[in-house]
Amino acid sequence: MPQTLYGGTRNRRVTVRDLALAKERGERWPMLTAYDAMTASVFDEAGIPVLLVGDSMGNCHLGYETTVPVTMDEIAMLTAAVVRGTSRALVVADLPFGSYQEGEVQALRSATRLVKEAGAQAVKLEGGERSAGQIDLLVRSGIPVMAHIGLTPQSVHAMGYRVQGRGEEAAQQLLRDAKAVQDAGAFAVVMEMVPAPVAAEVTQALHVPTVGIGAGHDCDAQVLVWTDMAGLTPGRLPRFVKRYAELRGALGEAARAFAEDVTSGAFPAPEHSFE
Ligand code: KIV
Repeated sequence: MPQTLYGGTRNRRVTVRDLALAKERGERWPMLTAYDAMTASVFDEAGIPVLLVGDSMGNCHLGYETTVPVTMDEIAMLTAAVVRGTSRALVVADLPFGSYQEGEVQALRSATRLVKEAGAQAVKLEGGERSAGQIDLLVRSGIPVMAHIGLTPQSVHAMGYRVQGRGEEAAQQLLRDAKAVQDAGAFAVVMEMVPAPVAAEVTQALHVPTVGIGAGHDCDAQVLVWTDMAGLTPGRLPRFVKRYAELRGALGEAARAFAEDVTSGAFPAPEHSFE
């Protein structure tokens, strides 16, 4: 009986081979982002098999407006924290903007740091055909790579936040991108904001798993940014997000209750004090 990726017991980390076997079995799996040890440990205990230390940390954790300013130092520090907080999940670290676009050697240097210094078991980078050279060298060097096509937020100033792969020509380009990263050795392909039928076609065409975010129902896996999924992110969220909790409201209420107890003198009570 094969060990499923989600559910069951597991006393070792998930590997990229486990993900390949899940695709063969037709098993769907969940992925979440994580940016700190404590939250990562919650997701690890919940059985999430893959955690992404995404450069979405820029918007969701570090207070930047986009992912563009995120640095290697920031990704490395938060990846190390997520690795320390987990024992089962495969931890994938994002290569931030500017850490791999110069070419294969720069990509290898950056990825090596995230694997060797921060403890990531894989890296993710954006781009299809244009990033195939980098993926090829990383994979030949022993570093598993997750690719990311469709909407690539590091290119926000060039492409905006718009659905990609619409229309026959764009859909064909998306398919070429997916095949190029698969041929270069990527173990999985994130597809962001792509029409569901196009994502379904790409998923059918690939032997490696696709991970959808705003890419419909037929991808092999689904990823969400954890602060969106848990209702911590303020304001309007993209249509593809489903909120599974309302943490922003709950935390705000906790903070207000604490403040009221302090100002009224109700906290600390005798049971919180030492004799
Ligand atoms: O940085 C990130 O969180 C991501 C996911 C949205 C796939 O790239």
